[in-house]
Amino acid sequence: MLAEKYAAQTEKILAKYPDKRSSVMSLLYISQEEYGYITEEGIREIAVIIGEDPTAVKSVAGFYTMYSKQPKGKYWLQVCTDLPCALKGADQFYEDLKEYLEITEDGGTSPDGLFTVEHVMCLAACDKAPMLQCNFHYAENLDMEKMKAKIAEWRAEAAASKTPGKKA
Ligand code: FES
Repeated sequence: MLAEKYAAQTEKILAKYPDKRSSVMSLLYISQEEYGYITEEGIREIAVIIGEDPTAVKSVAGFYTMYSKQPKGKYWLQVCTDLPCALKGADQFYEDLKEYLEITEDGGTSPDGLFTVEHVMCLAACDKAPMLQCNFHYAENLDMEKMKAKIAEWRAEAAASKTPGKKA
């Protein structure tokens, strides 16, 4: 399915590497976008694409924290709470965000199933704290007012994607 649905993207990625096994990390990102996390099916599909054993693909996915091993909400919010960000209020921001989304544990998902929030180490945007990445896109210089507006946008986007006739 990945090979067909993401044919152009896959071809472009494979073209970047003389050895197609080197494209495993980029393909894992695509798989994660498609399935929401790293699935056995996705691992098998990537193994076929790059001509590698599934165990080797799985070992790469298992090593890196940016690959999720469990289902997550549609919006995966990773808040940096590393020291430089913490000094600019990231810890409180993280707690306020969880509370607003009614998430009671680190890495938990909101009751509506849309948002997963976890804290992570430095994302290399230390001067723009509080910051987070949502599905690998950065949002910076945040506060809860900005977050409430973003969350409202994401909720509207998620609702629109469920509306018949709209693009999913
Ligand atoms: Fe948060 Fe670097 S410490 S982005």
